[in-house]
Amino acid sequence: MNETLERWSSRRAFILAVTGAAVGLGNIWRFPYMTGENGGAVFLLLYIAFVLLLGIPMMMAEIMIGRAGRRSPMQSLAFLAQQAGHSTNWRWLGIFGAFTVFLILSFYSVVSGWSIEYLVGSINGDFVGQTPAQIGAGFDAFLADPLRMTFNHTLFLLLTMSVVAGGVSGGLEKLNNLLMPLLYLLLVVLVIYAATTDGFGLALTWLFSPDPSAMSLSVVLNAMGHAFFTLALGACALMAYGAYMPDHQSLSRAAGTVALLDMLVALLSGIAIFAVVFSQGIDPAEGPGLMFVTLPIAFSELPWGSLWLACFFLLLLLATWTSSINLAEPMVAGLQGMGIKRGMAATLVGLGVWLVGLLSVLSFSTMAEVKWFADMTFFDLVTTIPTDIFLPVGGLLIAIFAAWVLPRETALRTLDTGPNGFRLWQGVVRFVSIPLVVLVLVSGLL
Ligand code: TRP
Repeated sequence: MNETLERWSSRRAFILAVTGAAVGLGNIWRFPYMTGENGGAVFLLLYIAFVLLLGIPMMMAEIMIGRAGRRSPMQSLAFLAQQAGHSTNWRWLGIFGAFTVFLILSFYSVVSGWSIEYLVGSINGDFVGQTPAQIGAGFDAFLADPLRMTFNHTLFLLLTMSVVAGGVSGGLEKLNNLLMPLLYLLLVVLVIYAATTDGFGLALTWLFSPDPSAMSLSVVLNAMGHAFFTLALGACALMAYGAYMPDHQSLSRAAGTVALLDMLVALLSGIAIFAVVFSQGIDPAEGPGLMFVTLPIAFSELPWGSLWLACFFLLLLLATWTSSINLAEPMVAGLQGMGIKRGMAATLVGLGVWLVGLLSVLSFSTMAEVKWFADMTFFDLVTTIPTDIFLPVGGLLIAIFAAWVLPRETALRTLDTGPNGFRLWQGVVRFVSIPLVVLVLVSGLL
């Protein structure tokens, strides 16, 4: 396939698109419950360290490959490898990435469906006057209802695939422009509210003063996986967006900006959610339901609570929408590169993801007793293995390709950071990021 001519309309549009991909359930839903399950501050600090040491340099690597190839991830990898005199088998890395995002999107759509349910619920005023126990029970009852969950999952996937079918750079830009500032504003309101609750001090202690005894290899592995997930890194999805990046834009600045904006959302929502957790005596290790139980409680105490809650779920939904569009892009671009029309490609991907998503839906009811290895439901499996293992493995191979396979001139030109920036980036990727990922994967898995 030839070079794509599609471009984001400006540098700002590119940064917003990548921020839109990065900010989503990972920050607002996954980060708090993973922090809760992994001992609090220890997890938070490891996650920040991984974002800085691996995340930013590896984001640069991934976006750079897309920008240098200007094709779908599979084709960019094959094309650039061939140019550099290496095997076109590197295209398998693109296929592996597509497989990873396929699995991730299958549960992402289901959980985004929960937000649709809660958006509608808060508009209806369902949570008004409910006790925390009733709110918790309501969430469990919803999980036990496969039909309602399937309906929301279907609706969300239709929303996603209809944007993807039309090409991402146009429709997505307008959405991002509006969405990101509003999301920060609402999170700040939430944190201000959180500061007035009894649990605020405890939440800050829990989040920022590490308890060394909570540290273990699995916490390290989880924190690394989460850093990849939240940055949308390691599955060639950023590579797909890099293909549309304008010429003349520094990749280091773009990656650094996105990583900071992304961490900020996680911190704000973590503070807000844990303030409620500690004020209400909720177990921090409550698991994937944490956000859906704490936020309705928090907002129900505010004046105009239902309105705030509805705004929050609306923004969350828009944020997950821009992320799931990014998750779908490498698959759709890949099929398109194989000669399938974009609309058809989006339909096929949508159908496949929908079917596998049903297994996650049923994990909470009909298939709750069906256990895969280590006693996990399908939902447990699909929310952990692809993130904790596939993303780091994919990211590792991407980094090896960028820092060792790609010719120096190509990398230097595409990074657009100047020779000193290039040397720094290359040194960090070769001698810090790559060895660190290998070390954590090997020690975490043995
Ligand atoms: N980063 C997104 C979130 O935090 C999820 C996501 C979007 C993603 N695109 C991705 C995860 C690509 C892995 C790979 O919600």
